Amino acid sequence: MQKKHLLMSLLMLPLMAVAGEVTSPNGNVRVKFYTDNQGRPTYEMTYKERPVVLPSHLGLELARDKHASAGMDESDLMDRFTIVDEQTSEFDETWQPVWGETRDIRNHYRELAVTLNREFQDIVSPAQPGAIGQGIRIHNRKMIIRFRVYDDGIGLRYEFPQQPELNYFLIREEHTEFAMAGDHTAWWLPGDYDTQEQETQECRLSEIRDRMQQAVNWGNSSVAVFSPTGVQTSLQMKSQDGLYINIHEAACLDYATMHLELVDAQTKTLSKRLDGGSNAYTPAPQPSDAYALPKPFTFVSHLTPDATGLKGAMQTPCMTPWRTVMVSDDARDMLSSNLILDLNEPCALDDTSWIHPTKYCGVWWEMIVGKSSWNYTDEFPSIKLDNIDWQKVKPNGRHAANNEKVRRYIDFAAKNGLDEVLVEGWNVGWEDWANMWKRDVFDFQTPYPDFDLKGLNDYAHSKGVKLLMHHETSSSTQNYERHLEKAFQLMNDYGYDAVKTGYVGDIIPRGDHHYSQSMNNHYLYVVKEAAKHHIMVNAHEATRPTGICRTYPNMVGNESARGTEYEAFGGSRPDHTCILPFTRLQGGPMDYTPGIFVTRLNTWSNNQSWARITIAGSLALYLTMYSPLQMAADLPEHYERFDDAFQFIRDVACDWDESIYLEAEPADYITVARKAKGTDNWFVGGKCDENGHQTTLKLDFLDKGRKYACTIYADAPDAHYETNPQAYVITKKTVKAGQTLKLKEAPGGGFAISLIAM
Ligand code: NOJ
Ligand code: CA
Repeated sequence: MQKKHLLMSLLMLPLMAVAGEVTSPNGNVRVKFYTDNQGRPTYEMTYKERPVVLPSHLGLELARDKHASAGMDESDLMDRFTIVDEQTSEFDETWQPVWGETRDIRNHYRELAVTLNREFQDIVSPAQPGAIGQGIRIHNRKMIIRFRVYDDGIGLRYEFPQQPELNYFLIREEHTEFAMAGDHTAWWLPGDYDTQEQETQECRLSEIRDRMQQAVNWGNSSVAVFSPTGVQTSLQMKSQDGLYINIHEAACLDYATMHLELVDAQTKTLSKRLDGGSNAYTPAPQPSDAYALPKPFTFVSHLTPDATGLKGAMQTPCMTPWRTVMVSDDARDMLSSNLILDLNEPCALDDTSWIHPTKYCGVWWEMIVGKSSWNYTDEFPSIKLDNIDWQKVKPNGRHAANNEKVRRYIDFAAKNGLDEVLVEGWNVGWEDWANMWKRDVFDFQTPYPDFDLKGLNDYAHSKGVKLLMHHETSSSTQNYERHLEKAFQLMNDYGYDAVKTGYVGDIIPRGDHHYSQSMNNHYLYVVKEAAKHHIMVNAHEATRPTGICRTYPNMVGNESARGTEYEAFGGSRPDHTCILPFTRLQGGPMDYTPGIFVTRLNTWSNNQSWARITIAGSLALYLTMYSPLQMAADLPEHYERFDDAFQFIRDVACDWDESIYLEAEPADYITVARKAKGTDNWFVGGKCDENGHQTTLKLDFLDKGRKYACTIYADAPDAHYETNPQAYVITKKTVKAGQTLKLKEAPGGGFAISLIAM
């Protein structure tokens, strides 16, 4: 064998090396890491000795930039790695969130950090700098893979130290594999670069491909499905032998949102990518077998591309978000886990005194239902903001954000102890706001003539209420960033301290996607700028949360899933809210906007849609759908008709010292007891699917020896989400610890209980 060939084969065949094993503090979760015989980073994960993730590869495929030095055709970070260092450590700390489900959160994990080196070569002229022998040039790239192992799951991420041969790089795709041990049941949404507003599908992994077409909500104003087996995270699964497994991500910062693509039994290899490549970059070479995935039921990461088709532009030192796998044999642990928050960085804001949990109502539902409008006039086929004298245009008579109506909502909020009133459609531009590829769509500063910005804010403040700002961007992000400072200044001037933002429609600049690296940077930019102005942010249609609210607690809400608005767009299944806490809520609270009491919309509008929930079920959502921001979404006059039931919404807290999940099963039922922040009062909520549910509630969590005034809001015996949704029974009694309550939840129903310490 010639010398050169010997050298090359040695370089290309690193030995299989075991780096290590790390177990969680209580020993239940175990992770093994090694490089296989091609030097591919590989991990596996078990829970109580049962397989959770079978041997799975880790790596990134890089794109070769047109500026890369000539002749350097090796760029991927997939294989040929050797382990050069490993460090293990343990961390145990208890921290206090600014708002949350519990006062204290214990962050306790064991860590394994493996430093890998990828030595590779190219052949150049012997005269080239760095060339050895016949013209072989050796390159080195370092990458750290860090695992944090908790009692209820793991996080892993890639880190790229600054180094001579890896300063800037482009990501063509991340190839993090999650090889599942069986054909689990999954609760999933179609993988989509632009929307998450679909109904969850429930089926075996092997059935995803056949379900995809029907699973997609093609009617959404921005849809970009990428693969017949692509799904979103957080993905909740259950194995046939009862393990609950959840895959998501934590701290997605300066990086694209991750989807998962299933290598199913039918394909045995990656599904065809529909995102294509970019024109501007030369595609990276495809390693022969690095991406062939022989095991069935293997998910592989699929990042959201930007307008160029690429998935990320990185500058070292940098890191990816954490890829998380939560696991337990008890479904309740999926809901009480703090793993995603723990994997995020501590609070970055010095002063958080201005951030507060908020209950609000709003001039909103009647527009969603179609009874009134956001826009002020129907006069123009299209508008240019600078060319219109709004005082002279003809009103359409349906504009909801008018002085009289807003005052009525302010009065309602003040009377019922709600903190804020959202008003949508207050600012000019709604006449042609969506899906026109129009950049200069709103200025976020000019009110319509019938909305007295100063007068209404003064009126609200005089009653101890604040208005909640609305900035629909219609996804024209440059336009929003241009106006942001003035828009936030206006909020400061008039006394707003919270904004609901929105990203309806395709992203402008064209070609970008809602969940790309650049858009994720946009959302965070808005949150950071808002913090400077002491403004809380609730972003709709933005990327799904990944626990960033720990670091930036002014991010009090997100939509990022199918919210209550869909009850006016055809309705959602009754089990929808029994799934969301397992999936969407893993990364942070959702502005679900619960509280619909008059579920048949055609009783007060022309909308034939109806909400599939009972009134008692609607009350339960204030507990089961945790959020520091809770809306009472129905109209004041509807709440006035059911004032005794509305009492629960008046009473319920939205910030907690303690939360105990008492019962849970994905898509079936959730029961949770929560202790209101800084008090001895408890609230309990139970929500079920279309089959109904029976609960024997043991009041073990109450303080021993103490009496509580208990009010139970339950479905009436004949209640039903379809035929009899407004049938509820309110019972009052005195209870103490140790007692039990028997509760029957109707199909599509639930219950809510307040326990006020006496
Ligand atoms: C969609 C949001 O989810 C909804 O709440 C809002 O009213 C509309 N966009 C208009 O901004
Ligand atoms: Ca929405």
